[in-house]
Amino acid sequence: MASSLLSSSSSSSSYFFLVCTTLTVFSFWLFHAAPAVTAVRSSRVLLVHTINNNDSTSNSTKNHHKWVGPTGHRQIAVDINGSGDFLSVQAAVNAVPANNTVDVLILISPGYYREKVVVPATKPYITFQGAGKDVTVIEWHDRASDPGPNGQQLRTYRTASVTVFANYFSARNISFKNTAPAPMPGMQGWQAVAFRISGDKAYFSGCGFYGAQDTLCDDVGRHYFKDCYIEGSIDFIFGNGRSMYKDCELHSIATKFGSIAAHYRNSADDKSGFAFVNCRVTGTGPLYVGRAMGKYSRIVYSYTYFDDVVAHGAWDDWGNTTASTTTKRSVFLGVYKCWGPGEEALRGVSCAPELDYELAHPFLVKSFVNGRHWIAPSDA
Ligand SMILES: *[C@@H]1O[C@H](CO)[C@@H](O)[C@H](O)[C@H]1NC(C)=O
Ligand SMILES: *[C@@H]1O[C@H](CO)[C@@H](O)[C@H](O)[C@H]1NC(C)=O
Ligand SMILES: *[C@@H]1O[C@H](CO)[C@@H](O)[C@H](O)[C@H]1NC(C)=O
Ligand SMILES: *[C@@H]1O[C@H](CO)[C@@H](O)[C@H](O)[C@H]1NC(C)=O
Ligand SMILES: *[C@@H]1O[C@H](CO)[C@@H](O)[C@H](O)[C@H]1NC(C)=O
Repeated sequence: MASSLLSSSSSSSSYFFLVCTTLTVFSFWLFHAAPAVTAVRSSRVLLVHTINNNDSTSNSTKNHHKWVGPTGHRQIAVDINGSGDFLSVQAAVNAVPANNTVDVLILISPGYYREKVVVPATKPYITFQGAGKDVTVIEWHDRASDPGPNGQQLRTYRTASVTVFANYFSARNISFKNTAPAPMPGMQGWQAVAFRISGDKAYFSGCGFYGAQDTLCDDVGRHYFKDCYIEGSIDFIFGNGRSMYKDCELHSIATKFGSIAAHYRNSADDKSGFAFVNCRVTGTGPLYVGRAMGKYSRIVYSYTYFDDVVAHGAWDDWGNTTASTTTKRSVFLGVYKCWGPGEEALRGVSCAPELDYELAHPFLVKSFVNGRHWIAPSDA
């Protein structure tokens, strides 16, 4: 996203939206959830569900697969020093058969795993569990302008160190990094994603996401991030996801100008949005807290602490505010009961007002991601 935020900051609202066209290669999913019937490992409540997968880019699935909850449990140990089942995380993922129906816990020992990892759509129910986000790290260093296998530029989405297309993925106590150096102001092609989540019903707790421009690609699907640390400089959380970020730290390393969240949403029917609840915004600024990528972008910060790093104006609606009242405008940006020294800069912004309880409420509860059906109360 925002390849030219820095270079065009003098020409105000004319930001060029470079990767817009890559949206056509996303995975698209349809879900038909039936009533909950199973509780698994007490950590996830799973549903009998049918998945209609029409993802032309990822491997090998046909429509109307019916997966009936995970039916068993398997554990795989990854240890970079050789005392597990595998040396690399991808080798462990490869060992899970396609059309997986088992709850798979991949335990990853302390270490820096320097590899690119992909979890394909055919392998749901996988958990990556590290030994702590400071000691278990998966990292790579691709940038958007780097050449891919076919000689063409990778572009933003394919830079991710770890990409998950599968549903019911979760990660605990592990970090994901893109170690490409941070771009200097005005540099093009330096988007460098650490993690891309394109599956539905993904759960993360105690995870770290480290990068600079475009760290976390919250691509598509319902996602819950609890107690995570997310670091970057420009649009470091971006995509069309429908996600709740609860008790997370959003840490800016911007050197001249930065932005936290860029949400893409282009139709009023799309249920996606970014809901930040009880988070902490820290680091360096000045920062936009949100940018409306698309006419119907939705971003709400509630009960969130802001360090003194918020830019004057605080938000960038990208010219997408089409009406002057909260209920009529197509973008939905707002704040609810935020605090801290940077909070003052959020006041009185016309495109992103202080919400009343009624407007804020949908963005405060896990039902924003239909979490009652797949997130256990103890994990919320
Ligand atoms: C899958 O999606 C493509 C592109 O949207 C569409 O042309 C195709 O008909 C779809 N296939 C099925 C089986 O739904
Ligand atoms: C694993 O190997 C690395 C490098 O060889 C070493 O620094 C580290 O201490 C080892 N860790 C364990 C748990 O043995
Ligand atoms: C997965 O399911 C599809 C569709 O039923 C089938 O074509 C494919 O062979 C299966 N793959 C494996 C490894 O079982
Ligand atoms: C993750 O780390 C936290 C904090 O160190 C710890 O309390 C928790 O038990 C860990 N979770 C797992 C699943 O290991
Ligand atoms: C809305 O945002 C998109 C970028 O996602 C931009 O292309 C468009 O020009 C913006 N403004 C309007 C009025 O649609």
